Amino acid sequence: MMERQGKHPMLPDNTHDESARQMFVSGLKLHLANNISANLRTVYDARVKPAIRRELGHDPANRHDVRKPMSRDATYQAWSSLQRTSQEMKQDTQSEIALRQIETLADRAKQVRRKARKGSLRTNPNIEIPRYVSAVNIHCIPGGYHNELIEDDVLPGAVFDPGVFLYSMGRMGAYNEDIGATILSYLRQNRPGFSPKRILDLGCSVGHSTLPYVDAFPDTEVHALDIAGPFVRYAHARAESMGKAVHFSQQNAEATDYPDAHFDLIVSHILMHETSHKALANIFAECHRLLKPGGVMVHAETPTFEGMDPYDQFILDWDTYNNNEPFWGPLKDLDLAAFAAKQGFDKGKCFSKVQPSAVGEEYAKGRTSLFQAGDFGGAGAWFLFGAER
Ligand SMILES: C[S@@+](CC[C@H](N)C(=O)[O-])C[C@H]1O[C@@H](n2cnc3c(N)ncnc32)[C@H](O)[C@@H]1O
Repeated sequence: MMERQGKHPMLPDNTHDESARQMFVSGLKLHLANNISANLRTVYDARVKPAIRRELGHDPANRHDVRKPMSRDATYQAWSSLQRTSQEMKQDTQSEIALRQIETLADRAKQVRRKARKGSLRTNPNIEIPRYVSAVNIHCIPGGYHNELIEDDVLPGAVFDPGVFLYSMGRMGAYNEDIGATILSYLRQNRPGFSPKRILDLGCSVGHSTLPYVDAFPDTEVHALDIAGPFVRYAHARAESMGKAVHFSQQNAEATDYPDAHFDLIVSHILMHETSHKALANIFAECHRLLKPGGVMVHAETPTFEGMDPYDQFILDWDTYNNNEPFWGPLKDLDLAAFAAKQGFDKGKCFSKVQPSAVGEEYAKGRTSLFQAGDFGGAGAWFLFGAER
């Protein structure tokens, strides 16, 4: 599967044995998704749901009603343990591959930086890492996103980049570009002719979702920020070596150094669930400050639990409790329009939409073959929340 990943000079190299380990992890995840997960629903319907009904006197209303009874079930426990193990194996495999090349990769990024002409990079060694980023090894990445082991480190970027491809099993596109491409397809459908002069991507990581904006708006100034230095270093070297101009900076999206009314479009891609609610309020307030009147913010996330069967909610909430993603579920309980309105946006100018995955749509048109399986990126849709300033 990994041979389908789009190549660029910043990707760490793999030995034969490392590729074999990746294939094993991918095979394990597929086996869990295709052969084990379906049994959970059977167990739920046959054993757990009737027990919940007896205990509560009614059907489970939401994921919270399902959690404890299901968590006591041995089949679920076995699945959950394997699921967590596959996640740890994935992160450990990627980390070991990148760690072996830590100096080479940092040098490679430095060389690209020396010759860089297109975009730019600003890092801030004194940045304060917020607790919601530093307190957990987010989705089991050893050391999280921000830790630096050597000077000019890019290691977390080199773990994250191929890791996303493996985690989504290739379904987010060759360059993991699906979420950015999906916001763009929403904009094309709902705001035809919208032509932003300046775009900002918040929480850009290694720039997977940023680069589609460069392709879609070749004359536009594209900026992208992340709290993690290793990410923006890697992102900058990756973008430059792919011939794309992006101005990357290491900043906190809660309080940036851009002037007021500087951007026409501000986007984020699965950033919201990785911040606390207090931070999210600050981020919305910052978007309000940074957007020009008539400018638009659009934030993409995994689909909400609205209208979803309580069992499916429970399964999709697995990450909150087992994958070091403490804000994953709580975000889905927020009334985002009311939340944005408190930060200055007009509630009447807020919008939300479940948008079909752009890469999925390309696959559906038969332009390329879809690798169908797995537990993430398979919903075929992203939830978009936004507002016009
Ligand atoms: C799931 S990743 C985003 C993935 C990326 N947007 C993409 O589409 O590939 C969340 C990112 O948000 C960053 N982040 C979290 N809180 C932040 C903050 N307050 N300011 C800037 N970046 C932040 C993290 O460092 C991480 O890179």
